[in-house]
Amino acid sequence: MASLKPFTPSDFNVNPKSVQIGEELGKGNFSTVYKGMFEGRQVAVKRQEIVDNDLERYLLNELAILRQMKHEGCVKFYGAFKTDDKVVNILTEYLEGGDLRRLLQDKAVPLGWKFRSKVAIGCARALAYMHSLQLIHRDIKTENVLMAADGSPKLCDFGFARLWDKTKLMTMCGTDEFMAPEIMFGMQYDEKVDIYSFGIMLAEILTRKPPGKREGFLDRNAGEGFNVNMEELDRETQVVSAPASLVLLTKDCVAAESDSRLSASDVVAWLDEFVKELPADKEPAPALSADAIKEKLLQYLAQEKKDEEDDEKEGDDDKGSQKPRTEEAKHRVEAALTERDMALSQRKDGGESPGKKSTGSNGGSGIFSMCFPGGSGRASAQLNKSLEMSGWVTKRGGRIKTWKRRFMVITPIGIVYFKSPEDQHAGIDAQGDILYETMTAVAGVVANAVPTVMTGKPNSFGVHTEKRTYYIAAPSSEERGKWIRAISDGHRAWLDRKNGKGPKKQAADAGKRNRNDSNLSSVNKFDLRASS
Ligand SMILES: Nc1ncnc2c1ncn2[C@@H]1O[C@H](COP(=O)(O)OP(=O)(O)O)[C@@H](O)[C@H]1O
Ligand SMILES: [Mg+2]
Repeated sequence: MASLKPFTPSDFNVNPKSVQIGEELGKGNFSTVYKGMFEGRQVAVKRQEIVDNDLERYLLNELAILRQMKHEGCVKFYGAFKTDDKVVNILTEYLEGGDLRRLLQDKAVPLGWKFRSKVAIGCARALAYMHSLQLIHRDIKTENVLMAADGSPKLCDFGFARLWDKTKLMTMCGTDEFMAPEIMFGMQYDEKVDIYSFGIMLAEILTRKPPGKREGFLDRNAGEGFNVNMEELDRETQVVSAPASLVLLTKDCVAAESDSRLSASDVVAWLDEFVKELPADKEPAPALSADAIKEKLLQYLAQEKKDEEDDEKEGDDDKGSQKPRTEEAKHRVEAALTERDMALSQRKDGGESPGKKSTGSNGGSGIFSMCFPGGSGRASAQLNKSLEMSGWVTKRGGRIKTWKRRFMVITPIGIVYFKSPEDQHAGIDAQGDILYETMTAVAGVVANAVPTVMTGKPNSFGVHTEKRTYYIAAPSSEERGKWIRAISDGHRAWLDRKNGKGPKKQAADAGKRNRNDSNLSSVNKFDLRASS
């Protein structure tokens, strides 16, 4: 299949009156899923509000793919309808067992190696099917695998799925902890990113530990090329006495180089052989019927609600994270549009690097008056010319698992970012700033790596990264070098001012602006190892 049949507005043809909505089943980043009844059978209703036309286009993509997925390892599509013209409801088969993350987290339920291997085979089969249609899922993770009552897994959530195209740069999206390094670094990628995520998922299946900061498990970082620490994997899988072959398979899936990773069909063949040799599990098959799950689900939702409340208390500089889910969904659209922009500018330039061509320096006069409330023209005239650097860079989203293109300006206090250059010129408030005093800039260590800027702030989840990370994914290595040099010069100038060699007070005043985050740990470190 080289093309997708588009999902058109007339395909929203389920009569809303024929659907009864029941209890909540779960929440994703963008939607709420309810249990429902439709034509005499139980269904899941995934509900999401359309906030603008762009989001609608995005949802139509999800629907077009979901409708085309006809495989026992993919959740079955029944139809869709809109309510109030702005709420999209997607009907799929209802999976009683809930998602795989929940099952793995329920430590009271023993899970045998044969059972776990079969879950892995089911997922790999579904992936092989998708890849054979030239489709990438792009958000493979345990929360997007649903369990049928008989223990078979089904992939769901095709919101990020797309036809892959090796000639174009695709949006950086997915979920950090499961994301392949080439996506993190804004490089070109293909279907092997799903294999990488599958490998991370395997590690979670073996250890029953979710990857990421919270458990300090497979917490990858830019400095190590976002690669899995294989010794850690060995250690953690030994603790649980995981079969050595499954550990080896996991390693082959999370290989740093995508060419070294197995294909989905190789994984299936490999696991099929392996399972044949495994003795039957001593552990009983887990009870995945609706009744057995219900009680646990209620507990889980209560805990999730509590976590969310705790998160909100923690505070965050990313305005998006405080907004309702529908607002966040808008960012997905933005990412899709960025993708289109990138593809267009790439075609124009014939270049290989991500991002739109930089608009270059714009003098930055607007920003200086903003950074120095009540500041005079004299203050900006005194600034080092090298500070007047501005351009597009991509900023890693907070709660939203995509990248946002932002217009960043180097200023005497650090980097300030706007949604667009127009916002800056119109004097619209900056979306946020990264202050020199809380900044650690780490130049990319790996070739093609993006330099990162870390601030002393936890992200909106507080669980993914201890420090908020901004990836300066500029459009070319030359541009990246310029950014790093400008940040470095800016930081030096800031230090000079702080030490009394410049207009110190203004910088200090500007630094205090917008800082309600008293728990900022002052990093005061500026470690620039390479400039591009
Ligand atoms: N068909 C279904 N049956 C049972 N639970 C489901 C079903 N679809 C989704 N869920 C639950 O809802 C959660 C969110 O659904 P998902 O499609 O992943 O939404 P999102 O795109 O917002 O992440 C899942 O992780 C799962 O817990
Ligand atoms: Mg999901």
